[in-house]
Amino acid sequence: MENKQIAIPRFGDADVLTIQSTQIPEPQAGEVLVKVAFAGVNPIDVKTRSGLGWAAAQNKDNLPWVPGYDISGKIVRCGQGTSQFEDGDLVAGFVGFPVRGGGYSQYLCVPESELSLVPSSVTLEAAAVLPLAGQTAAQALNKAEVKEGDRVLILAGAGGVGHLAVQIAVAAKAEVYTSCRGDNLDYLATLGAHAINYEFAPVSERLEEVDVLIDLIGGDAALDALKCLKDDATVITVPTVTAELICEKAKLLGFNAMGMLVDPEPEQLETMLYMVGVGLLKVEIQHVYPMSEVKEAHRQIESGHTRGKVLLDMQC
Ligand SMILES: NC(=O)c1ccc[n+]([C@@H]2O[C@H](COP(=O)([O-])OP(=O)(O)OC[C@H]3O[C@@H](n4cnc5c(N)ncnc54)[C@H](OP(=O)(O)O)[C@@H]3O)[C@@H](O)[C@H]2O)c1
Repeated sequence: MENKQIAIPRFGDADVLTIQSTQIPEPQAGEVLVKVAFAGVNPIDVKTRSGLGWAAAQNKDNLPWVPGYDISGKIVRCGQGTSQFEDGDLVAGFVGFPVRGGGYSQYLCVPESELSLVPSSVTLEAAAVLPLAGQTAAQALNKAEVKEGDRVLILAGAGGVGHLAVQIAVAAKAEVYTSCRGDNLDYLATLGAHAINYEFAPVSERLEEVDVLIDLIGGDAALDALKCLKDDATVITVPTVTAELICEKAKLLGFNAMGMLVDPEPEQLETMLYMVGVGLLKVEIQHVYPMSEVKEAHRQIESGHTRGKVLLDMQC
């Protein structure tokens, strides 16, 4: 049997993505072999494929490189010294972040410490939505110390991180505002947010007295949103490219501002899987592409208008 993987043989546009065939790896001590069902596609995959950012710099002499940090699937072999899982367990994980990657594989060996058990009430599609995006959403809101009654503005509520951040903030009993295109207004209202159409007018013309800004866009949209904030407000700016600029401007205006880098925490993923299982969190999947259509999946992310997540079906 072969192990098909999607690789980046050189940096470039979506056309560089190539399917390669390798042997199914053997799990080393502390590792398990996962038969990957679904792999999540994240903006960082697209950025790295283009040769931008830290993961690209770290892997430039290590091409072809297999991207992918979000996986769900089934354990098919346990390496020596493992104790957490058994063959046949269904798992999900935020794996190999940020340098190793590897999630765009049909079979992947990972340290068992990077995985969480998927409850029977959660589909493997839903489980693959959560690792990177869900933990970014949860960690951004934790950093901001969002509490009941806070007026929270989340830029880009319809995206992979945003749709989960909106729901977690609503569950914390915050008053949640979010920006989106006209097409996403109804969707975000169903998640419990006050949705603001950014195509109609800048957000700063529609909102004031905000306690917490969760910026998932960066650049001009984030600079505009600073005008909506109360004195002493907190700003968490998530896109790394403009984080320094936004933090500098926000601090000059007297706000408490910080960037962030998501940190894989299997226990936090377990909590989110539980929340999905009991219906407290709804995942949105724009499209599941067969692995052979990975170029289209990357182009969809590059459009900047994905609702929820894009997944790759690694078994077809
Ligand atoms: N620092 C970290 O650790 C970390 C972790 C995860 C993600 N990130 C970064 O965070 C950002 C968001 O990630 P993501 O996975 O959520 O991206 P994504 O899923 O690709 O975001 C797409 C969403 O952005 C919305 N959007 C586009 N332009 C907008 C605008 N001007 N105003 C408001 N919404 C807009 C779109 O909604 P409409 O169609 O309604 O416009 C779409 O739903 C990316 O830059 C990513 O690289 C950083």
